Amino acid sequence: MGVAAKIAPSMLSSDFANLASEAQRMLDCGADWLHMDIMDGYNLNYCLLHKPHFVPNLTIGAPVIESLRKHTKAYLDCHLMVTNPLDYVEPLGKAGASGFTFHVEVSRDNWGELVQRIKSKGMRPGVSLKPGTPIEEVYPLIEGEYPVEMVLVMTVEPGFGGQKFMPETMDKVRALRKKYPSLDIEVDGGLGPSTIDMAASAGANCIVAGSSVFGAPDSAQVISLMRKSVEEVQKNY
Ligand code: DX5
Ligand code: ZN
Repeated sequence: MGVAAKIAPSMLSSDFANLASEAQRMLDCGADWLHMDIMDGYNLNYCLLHKPHFVPNLTIGAPVIESLRKHTKAYLDCHLMVTNPLDYVEPLGKAGASGFTFHVEVSRDNWGELVQRIKSKGMRPGVSLKPGTPIEEVYPLIEGEYPVEMVLVMTVEPGFGGQKFMPETMDKVRALRKKYPSLDIEVDGGLGPSTIDMAASAGANCIVAGSSVFGAPDSAQVISLMRKSVEEVQKNY
């Protein structure tokens, strides 16, 4: 028995002007979760000196999560691409976020406190890592006193939708699945019909997909294909 497949369309690829109806459309198409990419953007000149932000893009924050929450009961899988995730715990908790996944690269010193705070606000803690970050960095967060409940292995450099899947990141997924048979392992970036089998066979069960789902003429078909790929691998566990 493996861990359940969760297909999470990335709302970053949706029409933000119609977020509530886009979210409902994805759920009607069979989505399990809605993946919400929260990014902090940056000012290039300032950032070159001080690197105060995590990614060069600015997307949504707690006010948008709060608005969307009024229209849906769906699991809102929030991916925090920000340098100071601790500042977002309280507002996102209040706004109605379900999952709170922060990046290990910016939380090396305070993840224990961060995880406790996330849980105290009723959210499910997860940790993410960029393609260049070794998988060993997240082991203490899975095994620690305040364990995360999901690991998100980035399969592209965080920041933008529509990038090319990096197959070399699959070694990390394989290592994680071998070590933690019942852990939720999420992959994010460049996932779609042509890459899902690589991710599923490596052991990923939570699949984020933006452009492949929103860009398809039949989103339901893409979601169903990805689910089948994960379930096929699960049968062999
Ligand atoms: C990238 C984001 C992803 C992005 C995925 O930084 O974390 O969630 O929306 O988009 P696709 O599936 O188009 O690569
Ligand atoms: Zn994401």
